[in-house]
Amino acid sequence: MRGMLICMDAEELAVRWRERLDSWAIPPEIMARAPVDPWGHSPARFATRTDKALEVPDDGPTTTRLVEALGEHGSLLDVGVGTGASSLPLHERISTLYAVDPSAGMLEELTLRADKLGVPLTAFEGRWPDVADQVPVADVVICAHVIYNVPDLAGFLRALDAHAGRRVVLELAHRHPMSWMAPLWGHFHGVDRPVRPVAEDCVALAAALGYAVQVEEREAPLERFNSLQELAESACQRICLDPARADEVGATALELGMWPLPRERWVTIWWESRR
Ligand SMILES: C[S@@+](CC[C@H](N)C(=O)[O-])C[C@H]1O[C@@H](n2cnc3c(N)ncnc32)[C@H](O)[C@@H]1O
Repeated sequence: MRGMLICMDAEELAVRWRERLDSWAIPPEIMARAPVDPWGHSPARFATRTDKALEVPDDGPTTTRLVEALGEHGSLLDVGVGTGASSLPLHERISTLYAVDPSAGMLEELTLRADKLGVPLTAFEGRWPDVADQVPVADVVICAHVIYNVPDLAGFLRALDAHAGRRVVLELAHRHPMSWMAPLWGHFHGVDRPVRPVAEDCVALAAALGYAVQVEEREAPLERFNSLQELAESACQRICLDPARADEVGATALELGMWPLPRERWVTIWWESRR
């Protein structure tokens, strides 16, 4: 009905989030033929992203909100740290960096960079919130570009809040980070990809959990790919095609008007912790 406000409680929103995320599952017959893990992240690619962020620090809303809460010096917990792109650029303000990630490869690249910058680091290899009990409370918590991997979002957010002395900051793409490939899924597999969940769904859930959520959106500071070749190689992995088909995928992306790829929109969500 037009104009009617529908208020849902956190439990309903959490169920919706999980169902919508589940709808992104790759059909099993396509998954069975995947040459490599279509969901995998490369530590080398993320290390390049971190090195760029260290060279030219981003001055967007995520950094602003972290700096405000850290002040001159404070401890920072980075959940889904990757190689540290969202935390290491703040190295001069970090008294201790607590870092959580299930990928040993990511944590290795992170450790190299933290050592070089002289940032005291304690790393926890594992998934959040499975390892949360081992992790100390930090002044500030950051979790960037992880949320679309998290089926139990309510439990994940609660554990973030419980580990923040001052503030929780999230950064995520406005739409699912694999959304840009929808035309290629249609062309190569005849498969439609979903649209939800989107960042607003995370905002709604965080608000329903009782957090005083604030939100700012902007254009992503980085191009997703530097060349059509790079796009094609990544698409082969993500849509389960043999890497030998990269030229064909690149040509198709051009035909479908997908290159140059518009920049993503990124959303920063933050709230003062309730501890
Ligand atoms: C897209 S990367 C983002 C890395 C980094 N935060 C950044 O902004 O560059 C996502 C990272 O989250 C990690 N990850 C995925 N699910 C996780 C979970 N439940 N708990 C902790 N880390 C997770 C992955 O291993 C990966 O390193």
